[in-house]
Amino acid sequence: MTHLDQQFEAFKNESTEKKIEMFEMDGKLFDMIISQQLSREVLEELYNLTNHLRRMGKLKEGLDFLGTLLSHKRAMLYFEQPSSRTFLSFLNACHILGLKTSEIRDISVSSEVKGESYFDSIRTFSSYTDLVIMRSKDKDAAEKAAWLLNTYSNRPVPIINGGSGADQHPTQALLDIYTLMRSFSNQGGLDGKTVMFCGDLRRGRTARSLAYLLERFNDVKLIFCAPKEFQILDDILESLDNKGVKYEVITESVRSGLDRADAIYMTRIQDEHDLVAGESSIIDISKFKLTGEDLKYMKPGAAILHPFPRRDEIATEIDSDPRAKYWRQGRNGMWTRVALIAYIFNLEKQIMGFDVSKVDHLR
Ligand code: CP
Repeated sequence: MTHLDQQFEAFKNESTEKKIEMFEMDGKLFDMIISQQLSREVLEELYNLTNHLRRMGKLKEGLDFLGTLLSHKRAMLYFEQPSSRTFLSFLNACHILGLKTSEIRDISVSSEVKGESYFDSIRTFSSYTDLVIMRSKDKDAAEKAAWLLNTYSNRPVPIINGGSGADQHPTQALLDIYTLMRSFSNQGGLDGKTVMFCGDLRRGRTARSLAYLLERFNDVKLIFCAPKEFQILDDILESLDNKGVKYEVITESVRSGLDRADAIYMTRIQDEHDLVAGESSIIDISKFKLTGEDLKYMKPGAAILHPFPRRDEIATEIDSDPRAKYWRQGRNGMWTRVALIAYIFNLEKQIMGFDVSKVDHLR
């Protein structure tokens, strides 16, 4: 273990509060590593910005203006694991703000295969760019990168976690909450709602990040629905207990919770994290899939979400049901990510000052 590895191990054991402090610059969000960094106040600010950006996006002059804001900056997308949505939405979010982008999507083309340490690679990447957006197999990779640059670099650049192992995917949670809030805008908002998670909750980083973020809302209730092998881990339940958030753990079937859920958050089995290849395939998940028949057991105003990619957790016949919100999640992901990058680079005033009065309010 190197000196840097030892120092990082010590940081890893720090409290969440201490880490949140490390990921801030001048008292404001700088690195986006874990969803616990996002307070309700910051969420509201990011979503106001998202709504304004979406209206600007309907105007050529709005998009032209946005394209000038970070045209003097460069971003790197360092994606060690496969991605369609997170990669493309971040790439396009960067382009909307005028950021020039470079990428490594396959670690076999990085000098890490020649034995370069992860720490040296990150310092190298950061020396060429002003922002690093990353997805990694290692649950600690984004945290490690942010710690390294904030501790040792004269020119730390923000790190955004686009998915870290089986642990967290905070920007997915950001877009999921935005989608939920918009889905319930005519039903009194997200406060007081029951959100049911279904699928591989043990290794589903999107479900984990979303559970943390739902703690920011009043009187929400969470239902964790999965076979026992894929149930949510105790660290999430402990956090919910500490915040006084009510939850229920069920292991029978998706149908057993449908009548109580205002939102159903489906996930696929994350078998890329199997310790022994194929170990997930022997677990019976047939009762944890949504079928067309299930629609009649759901509330009429329910919202069905899925971070995607999906396999067969949601029957395609559900796609045309007005309760299916998963295609909106994808689109919302790009605009919430534009908002996040703009917020990190302190562009809120310039963006909110742009007149969008000629664009209708968003539906
Ligand atoms: N939801 C999500 O992270 O999708 P990708 O793996 O395609 O980025």
